[in-house]
Amino acid sequence: MLKAEELYKRLQHVKVGATSCRFTLAKCEEITPLINEINQLKKEKQAIILVHSYVDPDIVYGVADFVGDSYGLSKDAMSAKGKIIVFAAVKFMAETAKILNPDKTVLVPAIENGCSLADSITAEDVRRLKAENPDYAFMCYINTSAEVKAECDVCVTSSNVYKIVENYPSDKIFFVPDRLMGLNIIEEMAARGVKKSIKLYDGTCYVHEDYKPEMIEYLKLEYPDLKVASHPECSSAVVKYSDFVGSTSQLIDYIRKSANKNFLLLTECGLISRLNMELPEKRFIGSCTMCKYMKANTLQDILRVLKAPESKDIIEIEESTRKKALNSINAMFKYAE
Ligand code: 13P
Ligand code: SF4
Repeated sequence: MLKAEELYKRLQHVKVGATSCRFTLAKCEEITPLINEINQLKKEKQAIILVHSYVDPDIVYGVADFVGDSYGLSKDAMSAKGKIIVFAAVKFMAETAKILNPDKTVLVPAIENGCSLADSITAEDVRRLKAENPDYAFMCYINTSAEVKAECDVCVTSSNVYKIVENYPSDKIFFVPDRLMGLNIIEEMAARGVKKSIKLYDGTCYVHEDYKPEMIEYLKLEYPDLKVASHPECSSAVVKYSDFVGSTSQLIDYIRKSANKNFLLLTECGLISRLNMELPEKRFIGSCTMCKYMKANTLQDILRVLKAPESKDIIEIEESTRKKALNSINAMFKYAE
């Protein structure tokens, strides 16, 4: 049984977005009974909890069985034991878990579980684009619905996108929906000397599109030793100024292995919270932006869906759509490994 003092020891140095938002002992006393109840119910119901790194630290360090990026969590979902998966992240990630585990119950606790990228494109949009571009292979970012994945040939995540674009056996690729990631693909393929025709859609992540190169220039003047690490959903102007670009887990690995102290980390605030906790010797300069969808996950809702899920909390995917979406995810595993 976890005690509030132990939880406070774990969380006291974690900044939740702004420096002034910290976990207090009173807050830990309030949430420890919830954490204990969730962990007890998990055992009774043979449930596991998968958590994306952007989700709040009380969930990451209180109840998660697996924490990671989209690619790592899809792998964890594949090897998950038990009957129930609670996916504290956003809906498209929970759908990926269901596509890989049709016999398990997959629950999504976030009330607002969208994603500005996944919501920017429908299966109908992809069907139309396929009809207009019959000689293009369709590649989708994992931040898409099951229906969109079902219409595509192969799926990618931020951890394997460049490798898959390079290896995929087609020299004509229509990449959906992230335009900024798509522009980064075009630049990276040019740098690698890979000649492919790449067409793009017009979606963006509302968190990552906000970062601007002027901010990097300004902070580099003040901190000359600053290392800049960014997510490939950022603009190519930001990526050009970055010392490292990668998925959320790759960003953590880069910072862990670097001898540098000062970093500008251009991604959602949850990653800085994780690094405050796991690498307290590193210093993060500047501010970060929160994803309202990831931050919609709460301990209260995790407990609620474990106790008595309503139909809106349960992921259901029509079987023929699931099978077609699985082909696109399996193609990703094939070209990523
Ligand atoms: P990662 O796969 O890098 O964790 O990214 C997911 C995401 O939604 C980034 O905004
Ligand atoms: Fe979607 Fe952006 Fe939130 Fe990631 S950070 S879940 S891409 S809205």
